[in-house]
Amino acid sequence: MTSPIIAPSILSADFAKLGEEVRAVDAAGADWIHLDVMDGHFVPNLTFGPPVIKALRPHSRKVFDVHLMIAPADPYLAAFAEAGADIITIHAEAGPHVHRSLQTIRGLGKRAGLALNPGTPAAAVEPVLDMVDLVLVMTVNPGFGGQSFIGGALETVSRVRAMTAGRAIDIEVDGGIGPETVRRAAAAGANVFVAGNAVFREGPEHYARHIAAIRAGAAEAGGSALSC
Ligand code: DX5
Ligand code: ZN
Repeated sequence: MTSPIIAPSILSADFAKLGEEVRAVDAAGADWIHLDVMDGHFVPNLTFGPPVIKALRPHSRKVFDVHLMIAPADPYLAAFAEAGADIITIHAEAGPHVHRSLQTIRGLGKRAGLALNPGTPAAAVEPVLDMVDLVLVMTVNPGFGGQSFIGGALETVSRVRAMTAGRAIDIEVDGGIGPETVRRAAAAGANVFVAGNAVFREGPEHYARHIAAIRAGAAEAGGSALSC
């Protein structure tokens, strides 16, 4: 497996000082910055939209990994691209025209991601394999940080990994990821690991240690998955 990519989710950051928080996780070794956008409709929670992402953009040069938990997504894709997203991920369950949404994201010059809820089968990815740069498998039901990891979703990770073999497609897991659960996700075939609570829980002076612990677990389990 390629080196693991660690993407702290700022959903668990201190919202009163988001710019500072983004700089802190960047300096602490984050590979990507994961930004959770929620609309209170597709998921039962509200977060932020393009203006906040635009305001955060000057605080880091790292990849901005924008996870849209909104329905519909299409009317807002251009705004997220202009705000500074590098990757825009939409949910398979969020609209009837997944192919069109992915096409739009690529047309905006951004990497396109497709997210699957824990209850959505891996087969949802199959028709759009040529249209995705990333598949995000949710390991919690989307909406909140700090929830318990759903191990059953790892079967979906393995299936997506098999389906995408030989293609340059990242497989990301999101929800309940920490130094232990990351091992199971890496062994199943994920290479991008979102972590909110496990990174932010003890304040900025601990971010580097937490990111390193998640990275070590992923590297170890991902390496052994490859060798067996
Ligand atoms: C959940 C979000 C996640 C969340 C992960 O809907 O998509 O990115 O922030 O948080 P933890 O790592 O705390 O489960
Ligand atoms: Zn997310």
